[in-house]
Amino acid sequence: MIRAAITSVGHFLPEERLTNADFEQMVDTTDEWIRSRTGIRERRILRDKDKATTYMAIKAAKEALKKRGMSGPDVDVIIVATVTPDMFFPANACQVQAALGATKAWGFDLSAACSGFVFGLSTAACLIESGRYRNVLLIGSDKMSSITDYTDRETCVLFGDAAGAVLLEPNADGNGIVDSVLRTKGEGWEALCMLGGGSLNPPTHQTVDRKMHYIHQDGRTVFRFAVNAFADIAAEVMQRNGLTSDDVRFFVPHQANQRIIDAAARRMGLASDRVMINISRYGNTTAATIPLCLYDWEHALRKDDNIVLAAFGGGYTWGATYVRWAYTGVAQPRATARAMEAVG
Ligand code: UT7
Repeated sequence: MIRAAITSVGHFLPEERLTNADFEQMVDTTDEWIRSRTGIRERRILRDKDKATTYMAIKAAKEALKKRGMSGPDVDVIIVATVTPDMFFPANACQVQAALGATKAWGFDLSAACSGFVFGLSTAACLIESGRYRNVLLIGSDKMSSITDYTDRETCVLFGDAAGAVLLEPNADGNGIVDSVLRTKGEGWEALCMLGGGSLNPPTHQTVDRKMHYIHQDGRTVFRFAVNAFADIAAEVMQRNGLTSDDVRFFVPHQANQRIIDAAARRMGLASDRVMINISRYGNTTAATIPLCLYDWEHALRKDDNIVLAAFGGGYTWGATYVRWAYTGVAQPRATARAMEAVG
């Protein structure tokens, strides 16, 4: 059976750091409050006015391709998961296609907030398993600073800017994307949204004055929903595939709040050394959190490892994916990997 396997990971992080101490100067907050309630110490911000989500997406995608010894013309499909596109249309995927020189690719943007990467993985897997496409680039990229109100202490401390990208290829040895459980519950949309700028509330002076072009979040409501839904769905994908906590090498959670991650890990019976957590350094980077974790832990992953990815976000959207990892250590160019396999 052909599965879609992740064969390379790339990333992009802006250099500028916004620390909790910086926020103490900006809003009525403390380092202690932010750390104890969220686990965040600092996040990255893309300050340049002329650079945005697409810029970061291209950087992450180029790194993923380069590590695999591939280039634009090898790519069949480009999926960009984001809620902060450079513009409504054309899709970010179009500019990524042009920058990569991906002359035979088609692509589109995927809007599923913080679940965008997990939804995208399932989409990419279907495209590859169908046999119609081989090399799919999935990028999670968000410039959250572009929709963050830096006078609102309840949201501004949470988010950061970043991109992560994975390359997916067909694989016949059983490793790859094995299963996904994905959900949407539209009744929860008002708890986490951006009200302005769309066809319901097109931009006017009034929408700007009412701060409708920023993230609106009822944090407590989202927390209550996420803490159960996230743990439930991760447990569901494990149960459905007969996985016990001993079988799971790593849990790769969306990085929104350390307390939500800890609750899910407890439910899955996993000790903290088997949970990928980098929220303290990057904050919540929306669609980029999971590929950033994969990038940071890539060296520790081994061929045949069972890993469970899980995310939740605005919509509500949430989901979990079971992956059997396809390679050991950092991604290798295709030719090198084949030669190594031949040697045994
Ligand atoms: O990926 C997107 C999905 N989004 C999420 O996962 C977010 C889920 N929610 C959360 O992570 C948490 O709800 C927050 C981190 C946003 C807030 O933590 P909390 O423990 O739920 O705090 P709270 O909203 O219950 O607020 C507790 C207090 C309030 O003051 P009062 O009413 O008790 O006097 C807030 O006004 O903390 C206050 N507060 C702050 N204080 C200092 C809220 N933000 C801050 C702040 N600094 N930055």
